Amino acid sequence: MRIAGLFSAVALGALALGAGQPQGAAPFQAKTLAFVFDHADHYPGVRMLEASRGADGHFHGQMTSDWYGTIPFDDATLSADGKTLSFETRNINAKEKTRPWTVTASAGGILLTGGIWHSNLHQQGRPAAAAEVKRLAFHPVPLPPFQALAPDGQARTPPMGWSSWNKFADHIDDKTIRAMADAMVSTGLRDAGYVYINIDDGWQGTRGPDGSIRPNARFPDMKALADYVHARGLKLGLYSSPGPRTCAGYEGSYGHVEQDARTFAAWGIDYLKYDLCSGEWFYDNRDTVVRSYAQMGAAMRAAGRSMIFSLCEYGRFDVGSWGRSVGGHLWRTTGDITDKYEDMARIGFDHNGRPGDAGPGGWNDPDMLEVGNGGMSDDEYRTHMTLWAMSAAPLLMGHDLRLTSEAIKRILTNREVIAIDQDARGIQAQALRKGDGTEIWIKPLADGRRAIALFNRGTSAATMRFSPEDAGLSRFASLRDVWGARALPEGTAEMPVPARGTVLLIASGA
Ligand code: GLA
Repeated sequence: MRIAGLFSAVALGALALGAGQPQGAAPFQAKTLAFVFDHADHYPGVRMLEASRGADGHFHGQMTSDWYGTIPFDDATLSADGKTLSFETRNINAKEKTRPWTVTASAGGILLTGGIWHSNLHQQGRPAAAAEVKRLAFHPVPLPPFQALAPDGQARTPPMGWSSWNKFADHIDDKTIRAMADAMVSTGLRDAGYVYINIDDGWQGTRGPDGSIRPNARFPDMKALADYVHARGLKLGLYSSPGPRTCAGYEGSYGHVEQDARTFAAWGIDYLKYDLCSGEWFYDNRDTVVRSYAQMGAAMRAAGRSMIFSLCEYGRFDVGSWGRSVGGHLWRTTGDITDKYEDMARIGFDHNGRPGDAGPGGWNDPDMLEVGNGGMSDDEYRTHMTLWAMSAAPLLMGHDLRLTSEAIKRILTNREVIAIDQDARGIQAQALRKGDGTEIWIKPLADGRRAIALFNRGTSAATMRFSPEDAGLSRFASLRDVWGARALPEGTAEMPVPARGTVLLIASGA
């Protein structure tokens, strides 16, 4: 049972405080209770707890939180000594479907303990004044009905650029973003095709009196930053969430979706990554997740500026089958990548989306690149880059562009590898053979040639055999070793492949 509306400010004023009865000694005597937490834990930011005793003698109530709005509870039971109220709440992202909570009488108020997902809380609360209850109340905003969007002609090939998250997390500011734009140009990465400079989580501040989102103090002028990026032949991306809080706890777009889309357009934003984060509490089934993304998709179209729409909901609810219909140009297929070979390989080999879903206008997104962050060998980074190119995945670099070594630059700017990723037909490679520690993937290209990737997932070098038939050809007319930048002699039928490494071939034939 949800109790929103049961507590009018007037009733609370009278019951909780108006009569001048402090609740500290026996807080559960009253029929209706309200407490505020002045020092709420950052996550999930429980600011208030309200409860009322029903006719059955049990308490019903809710907590109000920054991340999830109202967190309702039912059937709270009072201990025999009348000092502890116990209840359960719905949980997320964990095996336990519910988590237990207790509210204990303490000097001047209550002590709240409980947990949600990976966090445990222990917070001191005090009786709420009626005005506080009103101020802290969460106002749910219904989703509009679903309306499919037609393709807008953008992202004919997978987007290429850079994003701040993998290297900097939310330690970002205007100066760093400008420096990345400068480095994108000076390193030659822009001219290799990387054009988006995407600010991920951590730019948001508070909302103004009219509800419009403002950047935080680290981003004094977002429009000026967009102008700076545009002046260098680059495009600027931004990040938000359909929930009230982003994953790093910044202000999300909940209740302000259309307004935020207009703000982003007015700033000159070219790309939006929309990350479910706290929205998963509100939108926990396919219908509501689809509608929450469709709402922003429609809002971006209505805002009148062409923006790439990046869906980040970790591949839930078969996003590849509906991503385009909400205006999405790319959709994440997994949770987050890290700069470890094992994580990269798990995603790149086995969680890179269904090939049938990818193609001009909409792409499977196995997450941003880690190439250049230092956690993998050059062979492993070449495997990373090859997996993404063969998958027709977006190529969003994630390292400090100022620190691009020559070796890393060679991996990121290999023109032939990029051409495979950006091939006009937009076909995502299929694995031909999988399982014995080596894999052969084939990607048909627009000009009739085939990209053939020989992957060695093992920890020692291997010799891998392949044939024209593997690539659907009767013979090879030409065979090129892409990373080796050389033509291979006629009749080549096997190649040495280093541990966790890759040989990438381009074959023509009949
Ligand atoms: C989630 C996303 C990441 C990144 C962070 C930011 O974890 O999957 O890519 O955007 O949020 O908080």
